[in-house]
Amino acid sequence: MNAIQREQAVDIRGDNLGGKSDLGGDSLRCVSLQAPAKINLFLEVLGRRTDGYHDLATIMACVSLYDTLHFQPLPHATGQTELQIVDARRCGGMANCVRPIIPTGEANLAVRAVELVRRRVGIPHSARLSLTKRIPLEAGLGGGSSDAAAALHLANRGWHAGLSMAELTAMAMDLGSDVPYFLQRAPAICLGRGERVGSPLAIPAFPLVLAVPPVGLSTREIFANCQTNKDWDPNRLAPWTSFSSVAAIGSALFNRLQDAATQRTPWIERLLTEFRRERVLGACMTGSGSVCFGLCRTYAHARTVSARLARIGIATYRVHTLSPPILAAA
Ligand code: C5P
Repeated sequence: MNAIQREQAVDIRGDNLGGKSDLGGDSLRCVSLQAPAKINLFLEVLGRRTDGYHDLATIMACVSLYDTLHFQPLPHATGQTELQIVDARRCGGMANCVRPIIPTGEANLAVRAVELVRRRVGIPHSARLSLTKRIPLEAGLGGGSSDAAAALHLANRGWHAGLSMAELTAMAMDLGSDVPYFLQRAPAICLGRGERVGSPLAIPAFPLVLAVPPVGLSTREIFANCQTNKDWDPNRLAPWTSFSSVAAIGSALFNRLQDAATQRTPWIERLLTEFRRERVLGACMTGSGSVCFGLCRTYAHARTVSARLARIGIATYRVHTLSPPILAAA
């Protein structure tokens, strides 16, 4: 059983919560979900669009680093989703990076996701979201988008809203380019601005090390300064449908945004150089950065790489790629 399948539902009886409501007993069940980070194994920028976005061809895969979300329907009808951020330092999360403060109001994508579900199905009641944050911000790991997708699933289940995957996907597109991907979570080719998710790819689970520099990067700024490939050949995606080995995946890693990120911080080049020194199968930046990852030959190799980077003051996570079952809508 993997971490996503380990989704738990914690029973909290309605009569412990106080307040009068037609929501009670089982309707007030607290539901929980792990929200994984992703990496981009391949990312090409095809061109700028008139709506301010860029057309992409990217391959995303989820990895075993998770935020945790709990969704608690509340009995009172005051509207508003409360968000409580749990300090991940007490739960094994990493905190040695200087990162921006996580917003707790509607600026938070997970809160916005819950509000979208509430307005869509006309629920007058409040809800409480609790978020244990382990995925670094401004990292290219999609943490905010993954939290938002998990919040859509949770609000749908917690409120028995009965929204289909197609309806959740339409809402996810409004929340952000990566959010539809996290509704499914299987490795996939994503097109458009990233929101058009293809069929699951049979990419095997392999070990990797994420290296987290002390500076984050703004997605908007990196896209604003990136090169585009006008001569894109869609055949470049063909090998990703049938790789024979993890070594072959390591040689095919690519990220067009890496140059723009390298111009903003020396950390990208530094992390990639350290990975190469450790003879990884391939190393690349994920998304718009600033996290870089190295594909390792074995789990023991990943332990060695992670320990060596830690010794020279670089924060790391040892993870593996996930090939989870596709989540059902409700
Ligand atoms: O979709 P999301 O809100 O996550 O994107 C954040 C910003 O990143 C966008 O406002 C845009 O400036 C940039 N972006 C882009 N092309 C994409 C995805 C994001 O230019 N495909």
